Amino acid sequence: MKRVGLIGWRGMVGSVLMQRMQEENDFADIDPVFFSTSQAGQAAPDVGKSGVPALKDAFDLDALREMDVIVTCQGGDYTNKVFGPLRGSGWEGYWIDAASALRMADHSVIVLDPVNRKVIDDALDRGVKDYIGGNCTVSLMMLALGGLLEKDLIEWVSPMTYQAASGAGAQNMRELLEQMGGLRGSVAELLDNPGSAILEIDRKVTETMRDGSFPVEHFGVPLAGSLIPYIDKQMDNGQSKEEWKAQSETNKILGRSDNPIPIDGICVRIGAMRSHSQALTIKLRKDLPVDEIESLLAEANDWVKVIPNDRDASIQELSPARVTGTLSVPIGRIRKLAMGPEYISAFTVGDQLLWGAAEPLRRMLRILQE
Ligand code: HSE
Repeated sequence: MKRVGLIGWRGMVGSVLMQRMQEENDFADIDPVFFSTSQAGQAAPDVGKSGVPALKDAFDLDALREMDVIVTCQGGDYTNKVFGPLRGSGWEGYWIDAASALRMADHSVIVLDPVNRKVIDDALDRGVKDYIGGNCTVSLMMLALGGLLEKDLIEWVSPMTYQAASGAGAQNMRELLEQMGGLRGSVAELLDNPGSAILEIDRKVTETMRDGSFPVEHFGVPLAGSLIPYIDKQMDNGQSKEEWKAQSETNKILGRSDNPIPIDGICVRIGAMRSHSQALTIKLRKDLPVDEIESLLAEANDWVKVIPNDRDASIQELSPARVTGTLSVPIGRIRKLAMGPEYISAFTVGDQLLWGAAEPLRRMLRILQE
């Protein structure tokens, strides 16, 4: 059995990973060792097996060196601090990481096995040791479009995203709810009176949103009742970092960085909790009938679900409210666009903490045990 060191298991992505590993009985097949950046020596979490040692220090290179595999959800700062010295000391175990720090490194592979199992297998054969989870938006888009990507039917994609608060962090989710509550509270009396004027309610809500006391410490601006058309850092070319990731990560995942599919759009934060949505404009390499496109998409993996392009099915199924907490990746609104027969639209939704973060990591750990 492999000795697997787990780091950052108490954070948001780490907690989702732990939950999924317990649901799938992953701990039965590994010797888990839990690390902590602050509570070494305390008892390890109960994962239903005996012999799990007390928490070890996540900065103790000697303790880390004893692991066959390290799985970290601790974040990029930790990776930047520990990975180099650990490898430098001669450690040759597998490093599985949720953070973006090593994603574009030559020595790493981005893991999304339902889409790039062949790239992963080739890398394992070549002795690659670093396997990194992709950006959530990218992984969710690729799971949804797997059937078209596999057959190389996509000439380009423009994803316009509607990203949930969780992508920005746990504190941001709390702040979104504080903002929602603040807005509601500011018009509570008017709402209780069915005869009150809606424009008066709207005026008060807007005033509250713009007031200096409105909680914006984490987002910087109001999100509840509004949106934020910029995610992650500013780059020099006009793209946000999140927008840059779409093309660079997708093509790395597919193992075609030297012959990339152009992918570019605008990433927007909206007031959803933990499911990202994306409206896709796709140019196909050829004119395919919609029913053939739907079959290709539906057959590509076990999680994608094609939703018929009718009103009721779309509003019921293509929604963060429906998808959150599940591994399902619905895609719908598939139709030909007015620009020509090779142009189609699609809309997809996915839980950014599951397929967008934790799930590819635990599946990579499984692949190492095959
Ligand atoms: N960067 C993403 C977001 C989440 O801000 O929504 C992590 O991939």
